[in-house]
Amino acid sequence: MSEPLPYVAIIDDSPSQLHCIEVILEKNCNVITFKHVDDFLSHEDLDTYDLIITDYIMPDKNGMFVLEACKNYKTPIIVMTGCDDLEVEKKCLLAGAIDFIRKPFSPETFRHRILLNLTFIEQKNQIIDAQEHLIANEKMAALGQLAAGVAHEVNNPMGYIKTNMNAFSKNLDKLASCFNDIEETLGYNDVDENEMLLKRLKEVYKIQFLLEDFKEIIDESDEGIKRVTDIVKDLKYYAYNQEDKFTSHDIVYVIKSALNLANSEIKHKANVILDTTESCYIDCIPNQLSQVLINLLVNACHAIENFGEIHITQTCTDTLCKIEVTDNGCGIDLDIQEQIFNPFFTTKPIGKGTGLGMAISKTIIEHHLGKITLSSKKGAGTTIKIELPLSH
Ligand SMILES: Nc1ncnc2c1ncn2[C@@H]1O[C@H](COP(=O)(O)OP(=O)(O)O)[C@@H](O)[C@H]1O
Ligand SMILES: [Mg+2]
Repeated sequence: MSEPLPYVAIIDDSPSQLHCIEVILEKNCNVITFKHVDDFLSHEDLDTYDLIITDYIMPDKNGMFVLEACKNYKTPIIVMTGCDDLEVEKKCLLAGAIDFIRKPFSPETFRHRILLNLTFIEQKNQIIDAQEHLIANEKMAALGQLAAGVAHEVNNPMGYIKTNMNAFSKNLDKLASCFNDIEETLGYNDVDENEMLLKRLKEVYKIQFLLEDFKEIIDESDEGIKRVTDIVKDLKYYAYNQEDKFTSHDIVYVIKSALNLANSEIKHKANVILDTTESCYIDCIPNQLSQVLINLLVNACHAIENFGEIHITQTCTDTLCKIEVTDNGCGIDLDIQEQIFNPFFTTKPIGKGTGLGMAISKTIIEHHLGKITLSSKKGAGTTIKIELPLSH
């Protein structure tokens, strides 16, 4: 089966120009032409095009307007123009155009240039797809490693909620019997005898204890339900593939949620000392940052032989958020420090490490326009430092 042709939208106010481009590209592309910018913008979901080619000078709106209107879409845009002002070219490229083509052009040159751009776009999309797959796979592998612990964390409160519900049901039976006894004897007695009876029944059925026990059962079950709900919430936060869109999010929440999720792994290996600001909003894809933090925490646990300490410190300035994860584990040999960000580099046995955690963490942090660095001393522990800009 042959590959489907790419969809290319052309916006130009000149019908002859539109026709000319259509003819040049018709063998290689599905060309859809628009005479007015507004027709184009109101026409369809702009994400469906593989490429948009727009004229710069048009009577109603210009090429800059198209760039501006499409800036939230990922579709690449090429601007073409007959005007030879270099400033316009610079402005368009700065506003996100991937190329700028001057008129007049020969059909061959134009076709060649567009096909070259389409090849480049396809390859870039393939790389992004592959990268997203890799990130998702590693995320699931990390989740797999955490799964047994997470299952235990859920199972434990569920266990005592079940026990509590049994006790609750027994308490209810006792209360019901008590009321039965009251009903059966109350009518035959005088007031004093009834008072005595009530007092005796209260003692026999340990009513005071039952009422207190009810309260304890409910409080404890509430706490268990909250723990399960929190774990499920953190899991969802981590596991769901969010759209690759940056939103303003509280990084402190992301840190705490990652810590909760990794807690089942950490609690047998280390005390955690958490030192964060109250809250700190940054432009980010939260579940990707959560993935980075979980990897750092799990790596820290793996580095600790018996029982140690993990410090998580987060600070922020007007423009920058800094996060440091420090462990007092085995540290990293100087000669392999360079390699730990390489894909598939691992010192762990098969099944324990994928060797992708640090490589993916670096990709994610750089995607967030940040930096990830390490300082470590063999035998003394490791600090991984992340710096992220608050806004892009
Ligand atoms: N906190 C740490 N302490 C010691 N070594 C570490 C630490 N973090 C990472 N490393 C080293 O970096 C390697 C790569 O880590 P990573 O990419 O997360 O892969 P994995 O954990 O699957 O091995 C680890 O195998 C380990 O040797
Ligand atoms: Mg790892």
